[in-house]
Amino acid sequence: HMMLREGLYRLNQQAMLHYTHLLTQTPSGEHARNYLEQRGITRDTIKELNLGYSPNRWDDMVLFLKQHKVTKAMAQASGFVLSRRETKGYYDRFRNRIMFPIFDVTRQVAGFGGRVMDDAVPKYLNSPETPVYSKGRILYGLHLSKIHCRQEDTVYIVEGYFDFISLYQCGIKNCVATLGTALSDSHVRLLKGAASRAFLVFDSDMAGINAAKRSIGTFLKEGLDVRIIILPQGQDPDSFVQQNGKSGFEACAKKAMSVIPFLTRAAVDQFGLSVEGKIKIIQEMKEHLARVDDPAARSLYIHELSQTLNIDETAVLEKVRTAFLESAGVSDIAYLPRQDGDTAPETG
Ligand code: UTP
Ligand code: MN
Ligand code: MN
Ligand code: MN
Ligand code: MN
Repeated sequence: HMMLREGLYRLNQQAMLHYTHLLTQTPSGEHARNYLEQRGITRDTIKELNLGYSPNRWDDMVLFLKQHKVTKAMAQASGFVLSRRETKGYYDRFRNRIMFPIFDVTRQVAGFGGRVMDDAVPKYLNSPETPVYSKGRILYGLHLSKIHCRQEDTVYIVEGYFDFISLYQCGIKNCVATLGTALSDSHVRLLKGAASRAFLVFDSDMAGINAAKRSIGTFLKEGLDVRIIILPQGQDPDSFVQQNGKSGFEACAKKAMSVIPFLTRAAVDQFGLSVEGKIKIIQEMKEHLARVDDPAARSLYIHELSQTLNIDETAVLEKVRTAFLESAGVSDIAYLPRQDGDTAPETG
């Protein structure tokens, strides 16, 4: 298996050089060069990120693999080609796309993403899971940004390729992109090795807000300090920073929200402030509040939530205590934490 993995890394490296050559040195790459220029991506950035272009052919990679005498097993494992349905043989996965090599932290090319240059779907295609590429274990850009994350002890987490690229290009270099997948435990562990503070900067739309909500639990579980940056409605980090620059982004970062206020606001937006809405909000928030370790912070958040909902604070406190006990798997009343709530019940 070691041999296969090493072979795949080498093949990915060669393919990357092939794609960058096509983008930067050939007439067929002109459309792609124009596309990147129109999106505000400079030549230096193209070079630093090794961006490329996959030509508008069904057999470019098929021929490339043949020329490089790549075995059938290796070709199939690489993800560059797919089996034809009707006849024998293969065809290219990536055609007529901007190519983004995806590096792992050791700076080996693990896989690729490709974006169309018009409104065709799917907008992005990524390498499938291969012996060297697993989307739950890789963060786009970390190979370049890790040193900056360490320096600042802070990391900005964005969703997309262009979000990373635009932030990085404008000088906010301590960032990574999740590539639209849910943040996994191993993502968070990778991040913990780089910084102790994280900012989530997801797209300001339903999908982005839901992705942020899903990621928060993973952060809390892994004990990483996380805050959420809210961009104006409809913006993503790429569009925002291309319009407002580094200083505009930093102004937004200053107003980043803590987890509980963010979740409260999202729940209020979702359920509204009717009586039924408030009940649902408490149902949802009690679980999050029960997971706040610091008793002072928990108490302040409970106070804030009860003010927002205009409801008696002791009622919220009681809900949170019950949720805490349920999540700890404790039913015996003797294990109730003291009123100040700073000792967890002993379990297992
Ligand atoms: P978005 O739809 O927000 O795209 O998806 P984007 O990054 O803003 O793309 P641009 O600005 O239109 O170029 C966020 C990320 O989700 C993944 C990609 O990694 C993308 O960057 N994605 C999205 C896919 O893998 N496939 C898709 O079809 C769409
Ligand atoms: Mn989006
Ligand atoms: Mn986006
Ligand atoms: Mn975008
Ligand atoms: Mn109070």
